[in-house]
Amino acid sequence: MSYPVNMSVKPDVSAFFDEATNTISYIVHDPASDHCAVIDSVMDIDYAAGRITFDSADAIIAEIKRRDLKLDWIIETHVHADHLSAAPYIQQKLGGKIGVGDKITVVQDTFGKVFNEGTEFQRDGSQFDALFKDGDTYRIGTMQGFAISTPGHTPACMVHVIGDACFVGDTLFMPDGGSARADFPGGDAGTLYDSIQKVLALPDEMRLYMCHDYGPNGRDFKWETTVAEEKADNIHVGGGKTREDFIKFRTERDATLGMPRLIIPSLQVNMRAGEIPTDADGNEMLKVPVNKL
Ligand SMILES: [Fe+2]
Repeated sequence: MSYPVNMSVKPDVSAFFDEATNTISYIVHDPASDHCAVIDSVMDIDYAAGRITFDSADAIIAEIKRRDLKLDWIIETHVHADHLSAAPYIQQKLGGKIGVGDKITVVQDTFGKVFNEGTEFQRDGSQFDALFKDGDTYRIGTMQGFAISTPGHTPACMVHVIGDACFVGDTLFMPDGGSARADFPGGDAGTLYDSIQKVLALPDEMRLYMCHDYGPNGRDFKWETTVAEEKADNIHVGGGKTREDFIKFRTERDATLGMPRLIIPSLQVNMRAGEIPTDADGNEMLKVPVNKL
């Protein structure tokens, strides 16, 4: 697959850091028009209380309104397991199409079983407005964006490239953070290594924007780097580390990791494009499957 890279387009990127989940959401603005996209928004949850709020999404909405932008796309890099998406809330306020990778159907099939969803839960991705295939392009004002299929962390993971800015989802972390785990259902360390090579094959000067940062070794939170820096310094894949090195390291590390705190509500909501499931009477309700994850 050859991708339509265009480094001469330089979108304006605004980052929003969510301290509760260490997630970074982005507004990507076309400097040649008043159009923009939102990538990986966050819906706030107090899981112990079953309480959902929208402070994080409201900050993004307020900034788009302040700059009087038109929202073309609300993109999810993947079905996140550590935070809930606010895509439908943002769409209701500002419009825009919700897009995700077409392998969402695999994720829906897997977790439809885990959560014992009935036949009313469609496993065809129809909850989303667009399902991206590898190499698919889309418009944000005058800019062209495209999706790169990057399975390994999850089957539906996509990296999105818009001009000289690339949104890596959970494919990579900052150089001192390494890479995301590959042990969720449908994940695979070797596949993740191969997907990371697709990102590292982009131009050296490409700006890379992370979906997460945990401030390793007590440093301040950061979310922007470049392909050149990841190739040279990434502690899991940089400096010529081999596929075999990576698989061994990743598999051993993943065996030590507990489940993300919000995986149970996150999957149920995010596999529905950010909609909260309802019970037979129409009440918003989340399940906890026992010993299924
Ligand atoms: Fe993730």
